[in-house]
Amino acid sequence: MRLFLLVFSIFGLVIGCKVNVGSNESDTFKVSRLDLSNLNFEALKQNILIPKCLSCHRWVIDESLFARKIKYGSPDESDLFQRIESRQMPPKNGGLTSLEINYVRFFIQSYKGPTIPIKIPALEAKYSSLKYHLIDRSCLMCHDGTKRKPSLASYDQVRDHADDIVDYIEHGDVLGSPMPPLDDQGRPKAPVPSAEMLTLFKQWIQEGSLNN
Ligand code: HEC
Ligand code: HEC
Repeated sequence: MRLFLLVFSIFGLVIGCKVNVGSNESDTFKVSRLDLSNLNFEALKQNILIPKCLSCHRWVIDESLFARKIKYGSPDESDLFQRIESRQMPPKNGGLTSLEINYVRFFIQSYKGPTIPIKIPALEAKYSSLKYHLIDRSCLMCHDGTKRKPSLASYDQVRDHADDIVDYIEHGDVLGSPMPPLDDQGRPKAPVPSAEMLTLFKQWIQEGSLNN
């Protein structure tokens, strides 16, 4: 029986490892604007959680879910921080840089909890919903106005580039630059928007690209 359990748990470990499919990092993911004197969830999310964790953990973009994984004020008692500091997370590419680890440490130290409880908006043909589910999740890490053109950070910019956004998500491979781009091994560097998101985005354009 013992032997059976042992074999079984080794098997479990192997399966567990297989689940660890992540995306390779590239230069585009290099962290900028991480400023230890300005600790806030948005900066943490855009600079660390989206590029380094989102490929495996959807909860990182939701502050209220993220907040449940830490003990406010005590990084050393926070499971999430221990996993980062021990370089268990992210499991690939050698973990976070020391600046990133320190940012997480000081963030947790000063954190008092989500100020506004964030509700995940329903997926619908509205700008606020599509910004959350499509643009912020799949495009913003590169098109935030500091790195790649076009910037898709504001409503006006998304509206003005709406047709390009559709074209590059749908036919980017034919146009020569699939969006989100692929890494060396042909895996998307950011979550690929679902067909439903794309349909709703087109519907939003047809209905006048409103700031709703
Ligand atoms: C390549 C995929 C991958 C990436 C990237 C990744 N993780 Fe994980 N993470 C996992 C897997 C698989 C588990 C479950 C295995 C375990 O518990 O060790 C896990 C477990 C966790 C857990 C405990 C379980 C939970 O959901 O509370 C935390 C906390 C965590 N990861 C945080 C992070 C953070 C923070 C990052 C980014 C800095 C990150 N991970 C990046 C794959 C990943
Ligand atoms: C990992 C970084 C990254 C992500 C994520 C990303 N892009 Fe890009 N994007 C680029 C780069 C790099 C270029 C320049 C590519 C080129 O010229 O070959 C670019 C160019 C573009 C262009 C301009 C193409 C042109 O040549 O006129 C559009 C439009 C675009 N991206 C849309 C998107 C959309 C929409 C998303 C989200 C679904 C997205 N991108 C996600 C890196 C990214």
